[in-house]
Amino acid sequence: MTATFAYEIRRLRGEDELTAALELRHAVFCVEQGVPEREELDGRDREGVHLVAVSEDGQVLATCRLLMIGATAQFSRLAVRADARRRGIASALLDLADAETRDLGGRRLVLHAQTYARELYEQAGYCPRGRVFWEAGIEHIAMEKHLY
Ligand SMILES: CC(C)(COP(=O)(O)OP(=O)(O)OC[C@H]1O[C@@H](n2cnc3c(N)ncnc32)[C@H](O)[C@@H]1OP(=O)(O)O)[C@@H](O)C(=O)NCCC(=O)NCCS
Repeated sequence: MTATFAYEIRRLRGEDELTAALELRHAVFCVEQGVPEREELDGRDREGVHLVAVSEDGQVLATCRLLMIGATAQFSRLAVRADARRRGIASALLDLADAETRDLGGRRLVLHAQTYARELYEQAGYCPRGRVFWEAGIEHIAMEKHLY
Protein backbone atom coordinates (compact mmCIF):
# COMPACT_ATOMS: atom_id res chain seq x y z
CA MET A 1 0.00 0.00 0.00
CA THR A 2 1.30 3.47 -0.82
CA ALA A 3 1.60 5.77 2.20
CA THR A 4 -0.21 9.09 1.96
CA PHE A 5 1.44 12.30 3.06
CA ALA A 6 -0.46 15.35 4.22
CA TYR A 7 1.95 18.28 4.21
CA GLU A 8 2.20 22.03 3.92
CA ILE A 9 4.58 23.93 1.67
CA ARG A 10 5.94 27.15 3.16
CA ARG A 11 8.98 29.08 4.30
CA LEU A 12 11.13 27.37 6.88
CA ARG A 13 10.46 28.45 10.48
CA GLY A 14 13.06 28.52 13.24
CA GLU A 15 16.30 26.78 14.10
CA ASP A 16 14.81 23.30 14.60
CA GLU A 17 13.43 23.24 11.07
CA LEU A 18 16.72 24.58 9.69
CA THR A 19 18.56 21.76 11.46
CA ALA A 20 16.07 19.21 10.07
CA ALA A 21 16.40 20.64 6.56
CA LEU A 22 20.22 20.47 6.75
CA GLU A 23 20.00 16.87 8.01
CA LEU A 24 17.73 15.97 5.10
CA ARG A 25 20.16 17.58 2.64
CA HIS A 26 23.03 15.64 4.20
CA ALA A 27 21.11 12.34 3.90
CA VAL A 28 20.11 13.00 0.29
CA PHE A 29 23.15 14.73 -1.22
CA CYS A 30 26.07 13.41 0.84
CA VAL A 31 24.90 9.91 1.83
CA GLU A 32 22.64 9.00 -1.12
CA GLN A 33 24.41 10.85 -3.92
CA GLY A 34 28.01 11.01 -2.64
CA VAL A 35 28.40 14.80 -2.76
CA PRO A 36 31.30 15.95 -0.54
CA GLU A 37 30.05 17.71 2.59
CA ARG A 38 32.28 20.74 1.93
CA GLU A 39 30.39 21.31 -1.35
CA GLU A 40 26.94 20.69 0.11
CA LEU A 41 27.54 23.18 2.92
CA ASP A 42 28.73 26.30 1.09
CA GLY A 43 28.35 28.73 3.99
CA ARG A 44 25.45 30.59 2.39
CA ASP A 45 22.51 29.06 4.25
CA ARG A 46 22.07 32.10 6.52
CA GLU A 47 21.71 34.38 3.46
CA GLY A 48 19.09 32.26 1.76
CA VAL A 49 15.33 31.85 1.89
CA HIS A 50 14.55 28.22 2.63
CA LEU A 51 11.29 26.60 1.55
CA VAL A 52 10.11 23.34 3.04
CA ALA A 53 7.41 20.70 2.90
CA VAL A 54 6.40 19.82 6.45
CA SER A 55 4.23 16.84 7.39
CA GLU A 56 1.28 17.06 9.78
CA ASP A 57 3.50 15.75 12.57
CA GLY A 58 6.16 18.37 11.92
CA GLN A 59 8.73 16.41 9.92
CA VAL A 60 10.62 18.18 7.15
CA LEU A 61 9.87 16.07 4.06
CA ALA A 62 11.58 18.32 1.54
CA THR A 63 13.66 21.46 1.31
CA CYS A 64 15.19 23.91 -1.15
CA ARG A 65 16.94 27.29 -1.04
CA LEU A 66 16.70 30.60 -2.87
CA LEU A 67 19.54 33.15 -2.97
CA MET A 68 18.73 36.53 -4.47
CA ILE A 69 21.37 38.16 -6.67
CA GLY A 70 19.78 41.36 -7.88
CA ALA A 71 16.60 40.40 -9.75
CA THR A 72 17.73 36.80 -10.15
CA ALA A 73 16.96 33.99 -7.73
CA GLN A 74 19.44 31.16 -7.58
CA PHE A 75 17.44 28.02 -6.76
CA SER A 76 19.35 25.09 -5.24
CA ARG A 77 19.56 22.30 -2.67
CA LEU A 78 16.22 20.72 -3.66
CA ALA A 79 15.89 17.46 -1.73
CA VAL A 80 12.82 15.33 -1.06
CA ARG A 81 12.93 12.53 1.52
CA ALA A 82 13.21 9.21 -0.34
CA ASP A 83 9.89 7.82 0.89
CA ALA A 84 8.02 11.02 -0.06
CA ARG A 85 9.05 11.22 -3.72
CA ARG A 86 6.85 11.18 -6.84
CA ARG A 87 3.96 12.84 -5.04
CA GLY A 88 4.40 16.30 -6.47
CA ILE A 89 6.28 17.80 -3.52
CA ALA A 90 9.23 19.11 -5.56
CA SER A 91 6.83 20.60 -8.10
CA ALA A 92 4.94 22.35 -5.30
CA LEU A 93 8.21 23.78 -3.94
CA LEU A 94 9.08 25.07 -7.41
CA ASP A 95 5.68 26.81 -7.58
CA LEU A 96 6.27 28.47 -4.23
CA ALA A 97 9.81 29.45 -5.33
CA ASP A 98 8.23 31.45 -8.19
CA ALA A 99 5.89 33.24 -5.79
CA GLU A 100 8.68 33.97 -3.29
CA THR A 101 10.94 35.27 -6.05
CA ARG A 102 8.21 37.65 -7.20
CA ASP A 103 7.65 38.81 -3.62
CA LEU A 104 11.37 39.50 -3.30
CA GLY A 105 11.34 41.60 -6.47
CA GLY A 106 12.94 38.93 -8.66
CA ARG A 107 12.20 38.43 -12.35
CA ARG A 108 14.17 35.29 -13.13
CA LEU A 109 15.20 32.00 -11.52
CA VAL A 110 18.33 30.04 -12.40
CA LEU A 111 19.49 26.61 -11.27
CA HIS A 112 21.86 23.74 -12.01
CA ALA A 113 19.69 20.69 -12.66
CA GLN A 114 20.95 17.16 -12.32
CA THR A 115 20.27 15.91 -15.83
CA TYR A 116 18.21 12.93 -14.67
CA ALA A 117 15.73 15.37 -13.09
CA ARG A 118 15.56 17.77 -16.06
CA GLU A 119 11.92 16.92 -16.79
CA LEU A 120 10.89 18.08 -13.32
CA TYR A 121 12.16 21.57 -14.14
CA GLU A 122 10.89 21.59 -17.71
CA GLN A 123 7.40 20.81 -16.42
CA ALA A 124 7.78 23.83 -14.10
CA GLY A 125 8.62 26.11 -17.04
CA TYR A 126 12.45 26.09 -16.98
CA CYS A 127 14.54 26.06 -20.17
CA PRO A 128 18.04 24.57 -20.51
CA ARG A 129 20.96 26.91 -21.14
CA GLY A 130 24.28 25.66 -22.57
CA ARG A 131 25.93 22.29 -22.39
CA VAL A 132 25.90 19.65 -19.71
CA PHE A 133 28.75 19.87 -17.18
CA TRP A 134 29.97 18.02 -14.10
CA GLU A 135 29.50 19.46 -10.62
CA ALA A 136 30.16 17.57 -7.38
CA GLY A 137 30.71 14.45 -9.52
CA ILE A 138 27.19 14.61 -11.00
CA GLU A 139 26.09 15.56 -14.53
CA HIS A 140 24.21 18.88 -14.55
CA ILE A 141 22.71 21.37 -16.95
CA ALA A 142 22.01 25.06 -16.29
CA MET A 143 18.33 26.01 -16.55
CA GLU A 144 16.43 29.26 -16.18
CA LYS A 145 12.91 30.60 -15.96
CA HIS A 146 11.69 34.12 -16.58
CA LEU A 147 8.74 35.35 -14.55
CA TYR A 148 6.22 37.40 -16.49
C1 LIG B 1 14.53 15.05 -7.94
C2 LIG B 1 13.57 15.15 -6.74
C3 LIG B 1 13.81 16.49 -6.06
C4 LIG B 1 12.13 15.06 -7.26
O1 LIG B 1 11.23 15.26 -6.16
P1 LIG B 1 9.71 14.71 -6.23
O2 LIG B 1 8.94 15.35 -5.14
O3 LIG B 1 9.74 13.25 -6.28
O4 LIG B 1 9.23 15.28 -7.66
P2 LIG B 1 7.72 15.42 -8.19
O5 LIG B 1 6.88 14.35 -7.58
O6 LIG B 1 7.28 16.83 -8.02
O7 LIG B 1 7.96 15.09 -9.74
C5 LIG B 1 7.37 15.85 -10.78
C6 LIG B 1 7.88 15.32 -12.11
O8 LIG B 1 9.32 15.46 -12.19
C7 LIG B 1 9.87 14.34 -12.91
N1 LIG B 1 10.69 13.52 -11.99
C8 LIG B 1 10.65 13.49 -10.64
N2 LIG B 1 11.55 12.61 -10.16
C9 LIG B 1 12.15 12.07 -11.24
C10 LIG B 1 13.17 11.09 -11.39
N3 LIG B 1 13.74 10.50 -10.32
N4 LIG B 1 13.55 10.75 -12.64
C11 LIG B 1 13.00 11.33 -13.70
N5 LIG B 1 12.02 12.30 -13.64
C12 LIG B 1 11.62 12.65 -12.40
C13 LIG B 1 8.69 13.53 -13.39
O9 LIG B 1 8.31 14.04 -14.66
C14 LIG B 1 7.64 13.85 -12.33
O10 LIG B 1 6.32 13.65 -12.79
P3 LIG B 1 5.64 12.18 -12.60
O11 LIG B 1 5.88 11.74 -11.21
O12 LIG B 1 4.20 12.45 -12.94
O13 LIG B 1 6.34 11.30 -13.61
C15 LIG B 1 13.79 13.99 -5.72
O14 LIG B 1 13.80 12.78 -6.43
C16 LIG B 1 15.08 14.10 -4.95
O15 LIG B 1 15.13 14.69 -3.86
N6 LIG B 1 16.16 13.50 -5.48
C17 LIG B 1 17.45 13.51 -4.84
C18 LIG B 1 18.06 14.90 -4.82
C19 LIG B 1 18.10 15.54 -6.17
O16 LIG B 1 18.43 14.92 -7.18
N7 LIG B 1 17.75 16.83 -6.18
C20 LIG B 1 17.62 17.57 -7.39
C21 LIG B 1 18.89 18.17 -7.73
S1 LIG B 1 18.77 19.00 -9.32
